[in-house]
Amino acid sequence: MSNENTKKILNQSVADLSVATALIHQTHWYMRGAGFLKLHPYMDKLMDGLNDVLDELSERLITIGGSPVSTLKEFDELSKIDLQPTDWNVSMKDRLAKVLATYKYLAEQFQEGIDAASEEGDAVTEGLYTDAKGDVEKTIWMLDAELADR
Ligand SMILES: [Fe+2]
Repeated sequence: MSNENTKKILNQSVADLSVATALIHQTHWYMRGAGFLKLHPYMDKLMDGLNDVLDELSERLITIGGSPVSTLKEFDELSKIDLQPTDWNVSMKDRLAKVLATYKYLAEQFQEGIDAASEEGDAVTEGLYTDAKGDVEKTIWMLDAELADR
């Protein structure tokens, strides 16, 4: 059975997770205002989580015969996450909303991984994506709660 689609989606994840990590780093560095003391270290936690999934999925891709993209240029070209230079005038709320939107995108992208791996009979990759999606959904819940008015 072919696993081309699974390999393609894994590489999409490698690029997206790399760019998502850069976005979290940007949020961590450019943060100002109420909530800084708890949100600044929280971004470190998010980066650790994304890096763990990135490494897991990259190595799974190699295990099933693929080759992960590995340069900043490839990450930027392949990723669908829009990462732009920022300045000091973006509010905490807008920064967190951008982080939330990125996690929602990752949840959809991981669902594509679940579907492709399932169709191509790769239960291990399907399991990795299922776990990764669960983690991302939990973060979505937490960011949604942080951004809620009440
Ligand atoms: Fe730091």
